[in-house]
Amino acid sequence: MSTILRSEPLAPECGVTVHDVQLAEAEGETLDAIRQAVFEHGVAVFRGQSLSPEQHIDLAKRWGGIDINNYFPLTDTHPEIAVVRKAAEQQTNIGGAWHTDHSYDQVPAMGSILVARTLPPKGGDTLFAHMGAAYDALDEDTKREIEDLEAFHTADHVYKEGGIYARTDIGGELRGQDLQTGATHPVVVRHPRTGRKLLYVNPSFTVTIVGRSREDSLPLLERLFAEARNPDHHARVVWEPGTVAIWDNRTTWHNALNDYQGHAREMHRITLTGEKLAA
Ligand code: SIN
Repeated sequence: MSTILRSEPLAPECGVTVHDVQLAEAEGETLDAIRQAVFEHGVAVFRGQSLSPEQHIDLAKRWGGIDINNYFPLTDTHPEIAVVRKAAEQQTNIGGAWHTDHSYDQVPAMGSILVARTLPPKGGDTLFAHMGAAYDALDEDTKREIEDLEAFHTADHVYKEGGIYARTDIGGELRGQDLQTGATHPVVVRHPRTGRKLLYVNPSFTVTIVGRSREDSLPLLERLFAEARNPDHHARVVWEPGTVAIWDNRTTWHNALNDYQGHAREMHRITLTGEKLAA
């Protein structure tokens, strides 16, 4: 834990809650300490925040660059902000399965800053899984087996015309159905800032092990996914008005729970620019 930040673990292996920081003002060594906490713990939660859309954008710019999301609706006034919205009458939510944002990009986004704007009375929590903890828990034979492997990631089956979202009641709101995506990354990457080994495959976007068919890839992928699904590696972010979470896509998976039917939920997300990943 940082000596600059007052913080406590969110769960034994994943996440941290940071106290006494107003993100609208965070800069310098405070922002450096927050970055380090996010890189190590995967997700950092901040309560009692008051971030206007402009302050949200300024914070993301102070962090580094912004990647504009190609699929989610954007706010009319601030195209840097993607809207993660489910209306009371909709059944499907965005991000309601374990995934790592943008793993289908050759240079995947570093992470996101998510601001709670409208919350259901109960539910709508977001689960995070620590992929360093998941890697560490693999048996030595599996670690050797995956050491030099690469995997192929794409979002085409999710966002394209006829894809997973197009068959749901949020399909009409999404953009980018004409885009084609695809990237290969090592199955195990080293975190570019902490050096920790991380399992870098996820059930939503990783479709094959390079050099193998989908059918031949699935047994190994499912074995790796099963370790990451172990709740020992997880943390739960319970949203309240004023909660902001910042997460690292390399260190974590996340899953937005869809257990609030009949109520609206709206979150504002800015995606932070990342760097190319290596084993
Ligand atoms: C996402 O970015 O996948 C959505 C996260 C959330 O709505 O909690």
